Amino acid sequence: MTKTSERTPMDWDQRFRDETTPWERQGLHPAFQDWRDNGAFDDVARVIVPGCGRSHELQAFAAQGKAAIGADLSETALAWQKAHLEKAGLSAELIEADILLWRPDAPLDAVYEQTFLCAIPPRLREEYEQAVHAWLKPGGKLFALFMQKEEPGGPPYGCAIPAMQDLFPEDRWVWPDGEPVPYPHPSLSGKPELATILTRR
Ligand SMILES: C[S@@+](CC[C@H](N)C(=O)[O-])C[C@H]1O[C@@H](n2cnc3c(N)ncnc32)[C@H](O)[C@@H]1O
Repeated sequence: MTKTSERTPMDWDQRFRDETTPWERQGLHPAFQDWRDNGAFDDVARVIVPGCGRSHELQAFAAQGKAAIGADLSETALAWQKAHLEKAGLSAELIEADILLWRPDAPLDAVYEQTFLCAIPPRLREEYEQAVHAWLKPGGKLFALFMQKEEPGGPPYGCAIPAMQDLFPEDRWVWPDGEPVPYPHPSLSGKPELATILTRR
């Protein structure tokens, strides 16, 4: 599969093979747990985790009985997902692809985003927004965790809220009332991820 390309300068598979993965949380993201515990996923039947890497949320969605799709460029990460799903007696669809170019056969209810948008080159952000909009049914949800980082460069590239409001405009997305909730990242210098749920119009 793609190792390095114009679209994806980072060799993500090598990062997994080298175990240089500082973005990884050792367990479920606390925002995921809060959303799950307050019923935010209750209406979700089919969900994609783009750039799932070796994150645990894919299995957690499968454990809740959701039709879960995990997508990543990295065959190493997807092999990890496959092994852990099998060990837990769970199943999910695994797609090895540049997921921004993928479209589902039927619209999805939800997208769960965790350190993926901040990982892709910023020039692909509009493509990301178009992809997520195309994946979701009207009323579908983007569970977003926007990485906050003021220093230039990346990955991770900062996803400041004003930039996100431009990327996900009001004529295509409903932003909730109230401020996004900060969740400091345990290993990326405590950088906060801001949790919010956008609704596709
Ligand atoms: C920073 S890691 C985050 C992984 C995971 N979401 C987590 O929280 O541990 C970014 C992930 O996105 C994947 N990725 C980057 N560009 C991608 C693309 N265009 N399509 C699919 N996956 C991609 C990488 O292989 C990597 O697993």
